[in-house]
Amino acid sequence: MKKTMTIVLCLVGVLACAACAKAPSAEAELPSAPAQTQAPEQEKTMTKKVLVAYFSQSGNTAAVARQIAQQTGGDLYRIETQTPYPSDYSTLLDQAKQEIRSGAKPALKGALPAVQEYDVIFIGSPNWWGTYAPALTSFVAQSNLQGKTVVPFFTHGGGGMQNCERDLKKQLSGATVVQGAAFPGRAGGASESALNDWLSKLGF
Ligand SMILES: Cc1cc2nc3c(=O)[nH]c(=O)nc-3n(C[C@H](O)[C@H](O)[C@H](O)COP(=O)(O)O)c2cc1C
Repeated sequence: MKKTMTIVLCLVGVLACAACAKAPSAEAELPSAPAQTQAPEQEKTMTKKVLVAYFSQSGNTAAVARQIAQQTGGDLYRIETQTPYPSDYSTLLDQAKQEIRSGAKPALKGALPAVQEYDVIFIGSPNWWGTYAPALTSFVAQSNLQGKTVVPFFTHGGGGMQNCERDLKKQLSGATVVQGAAFPGRAGGASESALNDWLSKLGF
């Protein structure tokens, strides 16, 4: 009887140890579960086709556009007017003011990109008199952006965003316009950290 009890106790001990040994490995697998559910979402963002369309008179917005294209794997498209803007700064200021006041849509140069092929379209402009440049007015008017996800970005000379995003949203009424950004205009583009913070909030 004593021998039988000893065998039974040993068996209980062995089974308990087996259960203990199994428990940690089951728990150890838990942290990997969220990673498995996150991966397809991340892949979905990474596989989105991105276009970065921009107007830039003196190169600052072009520099930011290149950074965005590099970070997102997007295609770059430079919006250009058929008639170049004057190189004299005060003449440029006057012409831009007059065009913005009259709601001008200057004729654009070259064929426009096939926006229907893209999932996300970044649209960039310098801040001109507190709003976006007339070349962008023309671009938006001539592109079918209905139902598209549009991300506005701007460069400025100290005024910040002002009415740039608000005005562009009005013109893009049929599109989903997500949180844009305005960066201080610099030949070297936006600060890496400001740009990456913004892009990561957008899921890039
Ligand atoms: C016609 C004109 C109007 C401008 N108006 C403003 C303005 O209202 N507020 C501001 O912060 N910067 C203003 N700027 C400065 C530009 O936004 C800034 O230099 C920008 O980075 C230029 O971009 P780009 O090099 O891509 O042309 C203006 C510049 C020009 C040429």
